Amino acid sequence: MALNVAVQMDPIERINIRGDSTFALLLEAQARAYPLSYYTPAQLVMRDGKVSATVRSLAVRDVAGDHFTLGAPRHTDLAAFDVVLLRQDPPFDLAYITSTHLLERIHPKTLVVNDPAHVRNAPEKIFVTEFPDLMPPTLITRDLDAIKAFRAEHGDIVMKPLYGRGGEAVFRLAAEDLNFGSLYDLFSTMFVEPWVIQKFLPAVRDGDKRIILVDGEFAGAVNRVPAPDDLRSNMVRGGVPKATDLTEREREICARLGPALRARGLLFVGIDVIGDYLTEINVTSPTGIRAIKNLGGPDVAALVWDKIEEKRA
Ligand SMILES: Nc1ncnc2c1ncn2[C@@H]1O[C@H](COP(=O)(O)OP(=O)(O)O)[C@@H](O)[C@H]1O
Ligand SMILES: [Mg+2]
Repeated sequence: MALNVAVQMDPIERINIRGDSTFALLLEAQARAYPLSYYTPAQLVMRDGKVSATVRSLAVRDVAGDHFTLGAPRHTDLAAFDVVLLRQDPPFDLAYITSTHLLERIHPKTLVVNDPAHVRNAPEKIFVTEFPDLMPPTLITRDLDAIKAFRAEHGDIVMKPLYGRGGEAVFRLAAEDLNFGSLYDLFSTMFVEPWVIQKFLPAVRDGDKRIILVDGEFAGAVNRVPAPDDLRSNMVRGGVPKATDLTEREREICARLGPALRARGLLFVGIDVIGDYLTEINVTSPTGIRAIKNLGGPDVAALVWDKIEEKRA
């Protein structure tokens, strides 16, 4: 089946193809001879309720520094595509939310992956709270007294921005840490949204596992072990990817999430598990699939396209 595919993503010249999951999806789509069109969020247009974009045909190559060729720009209705891959990276801000509103107009006649309305409704660190028994003790607030009470109860905590990503501004505060007050002041000026205050999970030393679910089914996983001098496991912060299997508990987590993800059209999702706890459900543009394949794991990009083909058939 030749799917006519458009990808909405950040400027392709800036991506690091070694780790970029969108790029892995594009390589696989091209290998299947799907015609590919590319545009950035800035080229999205809604006129009188109709959604269009200035797109360019795209060819990709797995060669760093020479990884793409674009055709001439042409303006076209997005409804003309079979599939739009929504692979815009966070920040999950009003610009992102606007993209989801626009793309919602063409879905599901054009299959938008992931379903834009459900992307909007599932911010990664809030969506988890629908599964309270799977997550660590977690507070979402900017209220000083609420944080103090939580700290008194749990001692060792982590404080992080609600819409942070890539490990940005993630702090661990031991029970006796005197910097809490100043950190509170700093967060108050830096972040207008509430923050996440979470029980510190010592198991993070062994890694933060990224598990990919395709249409609610386990598709592959990679463990990310933080550098010895950092709390954060994110690969952009020096976390080292390691081949891994699922534990019993992680299978249970996948089984619990599967039906909820499938029901929402969240076809390509990356969840994060530290120890026995689910900490994030990434639905915007999850990463990890290149690392999974490089470490000898499954070809998740192929599984994603198999599933999309099945849905379009
Ligand atoms: N509750 C926690 N306990 C221990 N480490 C944590 C905790 N929360 C976050 N971390 C560390 O910080 C990293 C980034 O936090 P995360 O919640 O995944 O936010 P981000 O969206 O920035 O990736 C994690 O990969 C992990 O290494
Ligand atoms: Mg994370």
